[in-house]
Amino acid sequence: MSKIALGVTGGIGAYKAVEGARGLQKAGHDVVVVMTRAATEFVGPLTFEAITRHRVITGQFEPGANADIEHIALASSIDLLLVAPATANIIGKFAGGIADDFLCSLYLATRAPVLLAPAMNSNMWAHDAVQGNLRTLRARGAAIVEPGEGFLACGWVGPGRLAEPPEIVAAAEAIVRPAQTLSGRHVLVSGGPTYEDIDPVRFVGNRSSGRMGYAVAAEAARRGASVTLVSGPTQIPAPEGVDLVRVRSAREMHEAVVSRVAGADVVVMAAAVADYAPIRAAGKIAKDGDELVLRMTRTPDILAELGSRRAAGEWPRTLLVGFAAETSDVVARAGDKRRRKQVDLIVANDVSGDDRGFDTEENAVTLIAADGEDELTLRPKADVARAILDRVERMLPRLAGTAQPAAAGGE
Ligand code: CTP
Repeated sequence: MSKIALGVTGGIGAYKAVEGARGLQKAGHDVVVVMTRAATEFVGPLTFEAITRHRVITGQFEPGANADIEHIALASSIDLLLVAPATANIIGKFAGGIADDFLCSLYLATRAPVLLAPAMNSNMWAHDAVQGNLRTLRARGAAIVEPGEGFLACGWVGPGRLAEPPEIVAAAEAIVRPAQTLSGRHVLVSGGPTYEDIDPVRFVGNRSSGRMGYAVAAEAARRGASVTLVSGPTQIPAPEGVDLVRVRSAREMHEAVVSRVAGADVVVMAAAVADYAPIRAAGKIAKDGDELVLRMTRTPDILAELGSRRAAGEWPRTLLVGFAAETSDVVARAGDKRRRKQVDLIVANDVSGDDRGFDTEENAVTLIAADGEDELTLRPKADVARAILDRVERMLPRLAGTAQPAAAGGE
């Protein structure tokens, strides 16, 4: 059973939220309803109260609501914040970080997943402002149940009608009770940059934020895998339920990854590993002259080593996934990298634009395997992680019980 906060905002679809609340309860969840003032114009709080058997929260400043700073208390106890219907207004407030009512404050205060079921007039839905706000929310990880098309209450015909309650309930269930499709599997993920020391106080690094690897690790854990995340230096919190191993340099990452491959069903190398490391000076380099020349040596290519050792018969059942950051001929170069490094799947990453790839919330990638390519449009890294693991899951059974991996070597 999960605890779900159901936000109801002021749209005609509010009456469907009653059925939604009922559906969530029937599925075994504990539902707490939060209504905006406008929502109460459409449906009475009593209706929700009778169904959920909880007091319905209708205002930030109502007596009782602040006894234990309720929005903070609720925020930390819920497994999902679902808003249905979500009006253009609440979508804008969430995107803008406004906190002038209980629901908006709850959105800012919670770390639970967020699911929105928008409903509004077709032109409002199509407006750049609304679509821009939705992109912002998606990029922060919110999931959206798209509105349906049809006759709207305002008399228009088009997209904007609140999705049907069973669809909303199913989307909520998929979040709070993800299918345990990777249960019994061990997934080893690397993420983040590596820092290579120049001297005792300076280093060479790169702009990788670690978000992509962390998203893959978090999604694998949600699907029931036991997950080890070998991470270079990052600013982001460890995903829940993941065994985090912190490293700094390419050499440390090499040691941490290679020593953990045995027993892994999947290795995903999402880390931006430095290809060269400076020859470290024992003491701090003092400034001297107009130029400084750094001498660097090659670091071990971890992924290539895993590929060649697997081709030689070690870890025959381990599926290998690599990333390829490219700025031109993305698919061709990445496909070539896949064959050279002898791995099953390469996630080709176009890092030529500022809006994707390195140190951004979103990514546009092409998944390249022996049997074809999947091009994914720009989307939040959590969605990219889901697509990668969907593809990995389809490849996993092929390895089971076979002596030869479905590796790149054979073509
Ligand atoms: N990788 C690795 N060890 C390294 C360098 C890279 O394991 N020393 C892995 C990365 O984690 C990624 C993949 O190899 O999964 C591709 O990395 P990328 O930097 O794009 O490619 P390179 O092999 O470094 O090729 P090049 O820089 O020549 O494009």
